[in-house]
Amino acid sequence: MIDFRVVDDPAATVCDVLLDVGCAGGHIALAGGSTPRRAYQLVAGRDLDMSAGTMWLGDERVVPPDHEYSNERMIRESLLEPMTEELRPALVRVETELGPDDAAAAYEGRLRERLGDHPRLDLVLLGLGPDAHTASLFPGTPALHEHHRLAIGVPEPGMPPLVPRVTLTFPVLSSAREVVFLVAGEDKAEAVRRAFRHPPDPLAPAAHVRPGAGTLTVVLDKAAARGLAP
Ligand code: 6PG
Repeated sequence: MIDFRVVDDPAATVCDVLLDVGCAGGHIALAGGSTPRRAYQLVAGRDLDMSAGTMWLGDERVVPPDHEYSNERMIRESLLEPMTEELRPALVRVETELGPDDAAAAYEGRLRERLGDHPRLDLVLLGLGPDAHTASLFPGTPALHEHHRLAIGVPEPGMPPLVPRVTLTFPVLSSAREVVFLVAGEDKAEAVRRAFRHPPDPLAPAAHVRPGAGTLTVVLDKAAARGLAP
């Protein structure tokens, strides 16, 4: 069952969800890209104690952490650095300097260390690409068929920035207690239709993130929600 929330300000809705889980000490996988930046800024603006929380990355671009494409950089600038230092959650970064495959293996190791061999994140925040990709799980790529590894390198992403990626895999994303998609803009309406309408399009990667024992919420603005229209 999918809980759709069509709201004027999706970032504000997601901000509250991040605070609820983060302030309770939860493990959260954050989305990259541009859409979540404002939600992260709103979280930082509340400056509540998230020091017991741990932030992971749902995916990362394999570039240096100060590079303009870096999701880690976006998260540091919009969420962590504006917060009072002692209130900040921990961030488990992707060691991009190792290259996609070794960075993915290292990230998997960190996940297993902290959350065991069958990690259940408390919250996974995901975006949606116009091609219905999510995290760095792009249509037609081998990463879609990975059912054992927790994180994997993606040498060729399906969309810009055309740099290698590291992504969490479907088994980890769908094991979360709570999955939230944050989607905004007209250009995402078709991807919304493919990923979330019933029956979903099996070629839409986001259609394969379905938490068996968790909740699935899709937070959208009206423009993106046009994809849900009959
Ligand atoms: C990434 C993301 C990716 C993103 C979508 C939507 O690193 O690129 O994790 O999955 O969520 O591409 O991106 P926008 O929010 O920029 O449209």
